[in-house]
Amino acid sequence: MDFKDKVVLVTGGANGIGRALCQQFARAGAKVVVVDLEGDAAIALAETFGGLGLAADVGREADIQSAVLATENKLGPIDVFVSNAGVSFSDGPGWMAASASNESWQTSWNVNVMSHVFAARAVVPGMIKRGGGYLVNVASGASLLCQVGDAAYSTTKTAAVGFAESLAITHGDDNIAVSVVCPLYVKTRMTEDGRGVSGNDEVMTADTAAEAILTGMSEKKFMILPHAELATYAQRKGEDYERWLKGMRRMRRGLIEQHPDYDYER
Ligand SMILES: NC(=O)c1ccc[n+]([C@@H]2O[C@H](COP(=O)([O-])OP(=O)(O)OC[C@H]3O[C@@H](n4cnc5c(N)ncnc54)[C@H](O)[C@@H]3O)[C@@H](O)[C@H]2O)c1
Repeated sequence: MDFKDKVVLVTGGANGIGRALCQQFARAGAKVVVVDLEGDAAIALAETFGGLGLAADVGREADIQSAVLATENKLGPIDVFVSNAGVSFSDGPGWMAASASNESWQTSWNVNVMSHVFAARAVVPGMIKRGGGYLVNVASGASLLCQVGDAAYSTTKTAAVGFAESLAITHGDDNIAVSVVCPLYVKTRMTEDGRGVSGNDEVMTADTAAEAILTGMSEKKFMILPHAELATYAQRKGEDYERWLKGMRRMRRGLIEQHPDYDYER
C-alpha cells in the first residue's frame, strides 16, 4: 500500500507502538494525525513531522467524532483509521480472574473495544461513499491466547478480534480493508514492569512491531502477527484446548516463580 499523501489517524499515538506507527507513516509520506489522551504529547510528536496532534479519550464517542471532524476540516477525509490506544490493568489484589474493579473492566471495554466501534461508526459511511478505506484495530496476542493475570484485558482484546471479523465480513464488499493486529510482547510503558512477560518471551521493540504492521498493511492482511510464532501457538490451541490450558497453567506457575514480588493468587 502506498501511504503517500494518505490521511492516517492513529489513536494512542503519543507513546509506544502508536508513536512508532506515526513516525513510520510520516516517513512513508502520509499526513499523520496523532490522537491521544495525552494531548500535549500528541501535539509535540505531530510537530516533529508536520502532522496534526489532537487530545481525545477514545473511550468516549463524542471525542472520536470531534477528532474525525477536526481531521476532515484540516486535512480532508480519513483514508486509514488506526485504533491503537489500549489499556491494561491486571487482575488486582488476589489475582483472581474477576477481582479487578468494575471501573477497570469498564475502562477496558471502552478503550479496547468500544473505541473501535465508535471509530467505525464515525468513518465507515464516508469511506463507503468515497469507494473504500482502511481500518486497523490493534488487539493483542492476549486475544488469541489469553494474558495470564489480566482477565479484563484478555476478554476485551478477544472481543476486539470479534468486532474486526464483523467489520471485515460486512464491509469487504464495500472495498474497506480491515486488519487486526495481535502482537505478543513489545517493549513499551504497558510492559515496563515485566508483568505477564515470561523469561522465554521475545520482547520486540515498538519500531520493529510498527514495521511489521506496515508490512502487513501493504498486503492488506486481515490478521497481522508481528511475532510470527503466535500463528503456531494459536493453531495448537485450536487443535487441543485441554493441552493448551495445561500449558497456560504451567506458564502461570512459572511467572509466579519468576516474579515473586507480584501477588499472583496461587
Ligand atoms: N506492549 C505490548 O506488549 C502489547 C502487546 C499486545 C498488544 N498491545 C496493544 O498495543 C496497543 C498500544 O500499546 P503500547 O504497548 O504501545 O502501550 P503504551 O501504554 O505505550 O501506549 C498506549 C497509548 O494509548 C494512550 N491511551 C490510553 N488510553 C487512551 C484513551 N482512552 N484515549 C486515547 N489514548 C489513550 C496512552 O496515553 C498511550 O499514549 C494497545 O492497544 C495494547 O493493548 C501491546
